[in-house]
Amino acid sequence: MVDRFQGLDPDAFRSALARFPSGVTIVTTRSASGTPHGFTASSFAALSLDPPLVLVCLDRGADCSPVFMAGERFIVNIVTPAHAELAIKFATKGENKFANGAFEFDESGQPLLPDAAAVIRCELEQVVPGGDHVILIGRVHDARTGSGKPVTWYRGGFLRLGESAA
Ligand SMILES: Cc1cc2nc3c(=O)[nH]c(=O)nc-3n(C[C@H](O)[C@H](O)[C@H](O)COP(=O)(O)O)c2cc1C
Repeated sequence: MVDRFQGLDPDAFRSALARFPSGVTIVTTRSASGTPHGFTASSFAALSLDPPLVLVCLDRGADCSPVFMAGERFIVNIVTPAHAELAIKFATKGENKFANGAFEFDESGQPLLPDAAAVIRCELEQVVPGGDHVILIGRVHDARTGSGKPVTWYRGGFLRLGESAA
């Protein structure tokens, strides 16, 4: 079979994707044994209002992916400019991500960022395959907002809302 996409330049694809500004989230969960896990994600999106569903795309190769795919719950923390360094830490493999004490734990032991722009707590509803990623679909059971404004991610860097991009 002829692959219609074999001519796609991977660098052009990545550059095109980088032209899409997004928010930044740190998505967290805990393993069955109680260890917290998390990763930085810009692929968060609203999916449905009724029922309340959100989604985030997770690289199958991420160290934390087996824990998220087996977990019952996850939390989407929408981060502010003050969390930029933390977001880089959560995007770095092998880091001791929960070492700095920025997180609190809810009644079921799930880690959340108390000063996030928003905290969205979910039950894992479905895991949908998507190439080298999986789509985690979460049913929202609690959502709250903070006073901080969200930071944005554009062309590989953080931008404050209202700041001009280079
Ligand atoms: C701003 C930003 C957004 C990211 N978005 C995603 C994403 O949506 N999905 C994903 O799987 N990885 C994303 N990453 C990369 C992961 O955060 C990174 O690979 C992480 O270390 C994976 O978790 P692990 O340490 O458990 O392997 C993003 C990284 C950055 C800096």
